[in-house]
Amino acid sequence: MRNKVRLVLGLIAMTVVLAACAQNASQDSLKPAGPYAEKIHALFTPVFWIAAAIFFIVEGGIVFLLIRYRHRKGRAGIPPQIHGNNRLEIAWTILPALILVGVAVPTVSTIWDLSKQPRGDVLNVTVKGHQWWWEFDYPDLNVSTANELHIPTGRPVYVSLDSVGGLIGDGEVIHSFWVPELAGKQDVVPARTNHVTLEADRPGTYYGQCAEFCGLSHANMRLRVIAQSPADFDAWVSAQQQDAVTPQAGSVAAAGMDFFFGTNGLGGQCIACHAIQGTKASAIAAPNLTHFASRDCFAGCMFSNTSEQVAAWLRNPPARKPGSWMPNFHLSEEQINALVTYLESLK
Ligand code: CUA
Repeated sequence: MRNKVRLVLGLIAMTVVLAACAQNASQDSLKPAGPYAEKIHALFTPVFWIAAAIFFIVEGGIVFLLIRYRHRKGRAGIPPQIHGNNRLEIAWTILPALILVGVAVPTVSTIWDLSKQPRGDVLNVTVKGHQWWWEFDYPDLNVSTANELHIPTGRPVYVSLDSVGGLIGDGEVIHSFWVPELAGKQDVVPARTNHVTLEADRPGTYYGQCAEFCGLSHANMRLRVIAQSPADFDAWVSAQQQDAVTPQAGSVAAAGMDFFFGTNGLGGQCIACHAIQGTKASAIAAPNLTHFASRDCFAGCMFSNTSEQVAAWLRNPPARKPGSWMPNFHLSEEQINALVTYLESLK
C-alpha cells in the first residue's frame, strides 16, 4: 500500500517537473505572436477556465460523496435511496446547456472570423506539402523556396495549402501546416485547396511542423517562418528573384555545377528533380535550389545548412532522413565536395 502511494506521488511529481520543461518551447500556442494566433488564444483561455471549474466541481462532488457515504463499521445495508427531484434535474439539464451555448457562440464566431479571406494589403503564399518538406511559392512575386517561409511583419499572409507532389506518390498524402505562435492548424489535402491566414507582430523566427501523420519522416517535416520588417522582407524578395550565380570557370564550384547538370557526361541526376532559376534545371519534384545557401536549414529543416551537414546528406540521404525521396547516388568524396561547394555558392 505504501509503495502504491509512493508510486502515485512520484508520478504526480514527475508530471509537474516535466510540465515545467516546456517553459521555453519554440512551438507554444500559449504565446501568440500575431493577431490570428491571439484570437485563438483569447478563445482558449476562457474555455480552459470554464472546463477547469467544471472539472473541479464534478470531481470534487464525486470525491465528497465517496467519503460522505463510504461504508462504515456497524452500518447495515445501503443508505436511504432518493428517487426523482424535479428541481435538481431541471437545473442540471439547463445549466450545462447554457454553459455549452456560452462556449459555442464565441467558438463558432472565431472559426468564421479566422476563415475569412483577409482584405487589403495581403501577401499571398502557396504552401505545398511534400514528403517530407515544405515548398513555399509567392505567386505574385515569382519566388519559390523551401522549408523557410519569409513574411513581412504586420501584414496578413493568406496561405493556400496544396498537397501536390512532383513525384508520383509524393502528393497523395494529407499533411497539416502548423505554426503555433502565428496561426491555427490547417490540413493540407490532395486535390483540394485549404486556406489559413497568419501574421506576425514582430520580427523573429517561428517554428512549425507537419501535424498530420504523413509517412516515415512525418516527424522530420519541420519548417520555420522568418518574420522580417517590411524593408528587410523586400530586400529578401529582390535577392530571391535574381537568377542563380554562375561559379567562376575552373573553380571547384564550377566542377560541382558541371556534375549537377551532367555537363561532362558525369552526374546529371540532380536536375531530374531540382530547379535552379536562370539555368535549364526546372524540375519541381524537389526543393528549388536557386538560393539554397541563403537558407539556414534543409531537408524539412532537419539539418543546419553547413558544408558538413550537406556533405553528410549527399553521402546517403535515406540514411540521414528515413524514407527520403532523394536516393543514395553513391557519390565519391570528390564529387560530394564539388557539389557542396557549388550549393554553398548559391547565396
Ligand atoms: Cu507531412 Cu506529417
